[in-house]
Formats: sequence, structure tokens, C-alpha cells
Amino acid sequence: MQSQTIAFDVYGTLVDPLEMSRHLQMMVGDKAEVLSKLWREKQVEYAFRRGLMGRYEPFGVCTLQALNYAMEVLDVSLSTEQQGFLMAQYQQLQAYADVVPGIESLKAQGHYCVAFSNGPAAKVKELLGNAGVLELLDDVVSVDEISRYKPDPAVYLHLLKRTGSRAGNSWLISSNAWDVMGAKHAGLNAAWVQRSSAAVFDPWDIQPDRVVNTLQALALELSK
Ligand code: LAC
Repeated sequence: MQSQTIAFDVYGTLVDPLEMSRHLQMMVGDKAEVLSKLWREKQVEYAFRRGLMGRYEPFGVCTLQALNYAMEVLDVSLSTEQQGFLMAQYQQLQAYADVVPGIESLKAQGHYCVAFSNGPAAKVKELLGNAGVLELLDDVVSVDEISRYKPDPAVYLHLLKRTGSRAGNSWLISSNAWDVMGAKHAGLNAAWVQRSSAAVFDPWDIQPDRVVNTLQALALELSK
């Protein structure tokens, strides 16, 4: 395949936000797993809602407010220091094992690889630097540059503009089905990274162009 622009979603695709349950374990014990899931779900919902309402705040605000919501629902109390610790750990999430070899293969095939996230660029750069992924990427593009959130079509068009790419030669790579659907809706190609067979793709009238279980499998698919 000729050189493509390949944009990777970050949270859930390159790094795993549910890793936070490990840190929550020491603070809330048995409730850690359910808390980390609710935290992540609400974080994403808050970004959707802020986007719809035209009430943009950086993604970290969604993350912190979602943590407070999840604490309230599950009746756990975490001090300001503990919340600060968790937010700092959010910058230390590790990359999935297939990420570095997968991006290395895609780069070796001549593709232009960027991160594309709801997170502000400075935060994403710090996170991916810590995870050993930043040095492999050609750029980091953030929705923060236009104060809109995925899956607003405007953010995918911003990605094309920022990378100087055409939709037909651009791919969004994400484990988040709603992100894949947003990119397809805006005219890009998209691959869904289904790392777990339990992950379900929303049964709408939009399908991904490729479904893979690792980024290495994606590199193989795009080399055909
Ligand atoms: C991202 C989150 C939403 O854009 O997964 O990185």
C-alpha cells in the first residue's frame, strides 16, 4: 500500500486507562475495578457532552470530574492528595505490548504515523514519552487545537488539515468503536483494534475497514 497517514487514538488504543485500577486497589480495595471502568466511561461521556453543549474544557477536566462522579456513585472518598496522585499516574500509563513493534513496522513501511487524541498535545507528549512511544511518532495532533471533541467531524477534518493529508489516504486506528465510527463518518479509513474478544463494535450502519487484534496485525494488513 502506498504511504498513508496513520493516526492512533491514545487512551485505550496505545495505553490502557484501566491500568488505573492497580493504583486504586491500594485506596479502595475491591471497588478498584468497577471504579476505574466507571471513571473511564464517564470521562468519555463528559467529553461527548461538553462537545455537544459547546462547553469545551481540556480533557483533564473531564478526567478529574469523572473521577469525582465515580467516587460519589461508589461511595468512596479520596483526598485531594490521592486524587492528585491518580491524575499524575494517568501520565504514566504503559503502552500495550504490541504498540512499539507495531508502530516500528508501520514506520518501516513508510507510513506517516501520528497520535491523535482528545488529550492536549503537551499532556499526550508527556504520557507517550513516558511510555516510550513518542520517539516513534512523526507528530501529535490534539482536538484541543480546535476546542472540540471526538467524534465531532470537525476534529477528523482538523487531523487531515494538520497532517496535510487526504481522507482517502488517512487511517484512524482506535480500540474505541465510537472513534472508528466518527472517523468513517468524516470520510477517513479506519481500523478497529479489538484486543479482547469481549469488546463489542456498536451495531450501527458504519463498519471499520479493518479489524485487527494488535498493531502488528495492522502492519501486516496494510503491507498487502
Ligand atoms: C483519546 C481518547 C478519547 O482521544 O481515547 O485519546
